[in-house]
Amino acid sequence: MTELKVPGDKSISHRALLLAALADGESRIRGILTGEDPRATASILRELGVRVPPLVADAELRITGVGVRGLRAPGRMLDCANSGTTARLMLGVLAGQALEATLTGDESLRRRPMRRVTDPLSRMGARFEPLAAPGRLPLRITGGALRTLDHRLPVASAQVKSALLLAGVTGGVSVRLIEPGFSRDHTERMLAAAGCVLTATPEGGANRVRLTAAPAALDALDIVVPGDFSSAAFPLALALLGGAGEGVVLRGIGLNPTRTGLLPVLERMNARIEVETGSAPEGGEPAGDLIVQPSDLTGTEVQPEEIPGLIDEVPILAVLAARARGTTRITGAEELRVKESDRLGALAANLTNLGVEVEELPDGLVIEGTNRSLAGPVEARGDHRIAMAFGVLGALAGNAITVDAPAAVDVSYPGFWEMLERASTPAGRPSVPDSSEKDVEPARPVRERKRGPVIVIDGPAGSGKSTTAREVARRLGFRHLDSGALYRALTCALLESGQPPDSWPALTESDLNAHPVRMVAAGTAFRMMLGTRTLSAELRSPEVDAHVSAVARLPAVRGWLLDRQRQAGRKGSLVGDGRDLGTVVFPDAEAKIFLVADVAERARRRLLEKGREPDSGGAVTAEAARLRARDRIDATRGTAPLRKAADAFEVDGTRLSFEEQVDTILGVVRARIGDRGRQGSDLRANAPTTRE
Ligand code: S3P
Repeated sequence: MTELKVPGDKSISHRALLLAALADGESRIRGILTGEDPRATASILRELGVRVPPLVADAELRITGVGVRGLRAPGRMLDCANSGTTARLMLGVLAGQALEATLTGDESLRRRPMRRVTDPLSRMGARFEPLAAPGRLPLRITGGALRTLDHRLPVASAQVKSALLLAGVTGGVSVRLIEPGFSRDHTERMLAAAGCVLTATPEGGANRVRLTAAPAALDALDIVVPGDFSSAAFPLALALLGGAGEGVVLRGIGLNPTRTGLLPVLERMNARIEVETGSAPEGGEPAGDLIVQPSDLTGTEVQPEEIPGLIDEVPILAVLAARARGTTRITGAEELRVKESDRLGALAANLTNLGVEVEELPDGLVIEGTNRSLAGPVEARGDHRIAMAFGVLGALAGNAITVDAPAAVDVSYPGFWEMLERASTPAGRPSVPDSSEKDVEPARPVRERKRGPVIVIDGPAGSGKSTTAREVARRLGFRHLDSGALYRALTCALLESGQPPDSWPALTESDLNAHPVRMVAAGTAFRMMLGTRTLSAELRSPEVDAHVSAVARLPAVRGWLLDRQRQAGRKGSLVGDGRDLGTVVFPDAEAKIFLVADVAERARRRLLEKGREPDSGGAVTAEAARLRARDRIDATRGTAPLRKAADAFEVDGTRLSFEEQVDTILGVVRARIGDRGRQGSDLRANAPTTRE
């Protein structure tokens, strides 16, 4: 049997970061998930003045807290990326801080409902102002003194429950909640361990939670984050379906009963799973091993009250149901429509396309199991769990399935495709090394592979090319190269070197090369590193802001930049944004976009990006004037002048919403690169998109 460990629990990782930040003293966290979701939480905490070291797999993380109300006002918008947990829990944390902040997220997160958190937090005294659509991100929050809260949650939701409890803690007030079901209780356990007085009492089918007192100072944490049961569910399913030989042993998996609702359902389906509970719970959370063998599964009925305990496992359960004998009926799962994607819609559409008989209900799915071979493309809709569920189905003998956005898995399970390769590889064959963190410098290719497509998006300042390119990359499963971040990383290096800025123009390219600025491929992005340190908040510091355009004009920077951009291009499957990528850096790019928008619209977007009001006191006019001046400089400067390539496709985003802009570009890209945009990239280091 293959022995596997899975990455740390995502929910516990977020909470550990938040509570360590709010505690007094130094917390120690081992086994934290290094996926993109907790990285979003960590980087927001840094922006709020907490020194959070980079999240490194298998290393102990030490964080010195700033106290329950010690967060500092941020200098820019707080980007929660794809993470609903970050957004909602952070709103609760910020509610009790006397400061103003603006939270935003990626396209998927900006569609997800926030009122379930902001309504009760408003009743406690926090103020919210949506900057785009009502009840959606981006949202400005003004926190401060809070009142106690008595509240009935509209849905069983750990994120909502946790946000309100955290507001109780940061506001120093009591909170009484009634939840119509039993969602995960990690926050309650961790708050109790940190010194809060908290009770949870079942009342019929409801959960009554009371935070009666929060101490003025939370105790620091010392915890081991167990493996994420929700991640373990994927290799577990692979093994049940016979895709992992004799089966798998999953070690050190969190077995909190509010998380393992999938197990009794699988037992009804005839699954052969043994659970070996560890002798002592780690960090207050029970953990143990799961021994999973191939099984002849039969269909079952999943009842509404079972949903909160397996909320994140519905995608993989649907895949298991597609391979079980008979019918599986899942109801009471309407909450899945507002997850990272509309998961019921995504499951129904993809399973149907592959040839499975599915009925989509308003609140669930009816799935007829089949043992026919399943083939076709899967649209993961940027959703990590949809990508992984179909990744498992595609790994089974006889199926040929391509998942369009393999890199989506990095949100919760970095290394998922490598795990799949290893678990489903006959013993003795070499496994594929982890591709998620590789230096772009010399590193010899693990295996011969052709360069993937390079897509470039050039355009003037404020056209939104960087956020657009990031989203286009995410949707394609390609990597995003943000050239602006390279200039900023070099500026950081120069500032830290102590050489006075007036000496910089004399620097040569080899002087610049002496600075240890590196780009490290990480998931769907490149991380900027200075030596061994990841640069994140520093890239946007006021000092860097003040010097970056001077650095961009240095003659030596041209060659330095060109080199690094081309190195990134050699990794392939790239969406880059800049000013001369299509003309100078990648003249042979597979698709070139020139993104424009009229200057007033660009000014408005710039202001929003900086978290400022776009229509206050002539701000747009002033910003537009700045942009016009910038356009003139950009078009004429020696280094990376702004130019439209003759073969670039111009997209005018003035009257397009962000989504329409991204969709238009994706349309052009797909028309140019065809199937290669569907199959994703080589981010998976040769993990197969189809299997025989
Ligand atoms: C989570 C709670 C769940 C879950 C999500 C993580 C958490 O969401 O789906 O992946 O960490 O609190 P809801 O609170 O919306 O049910």
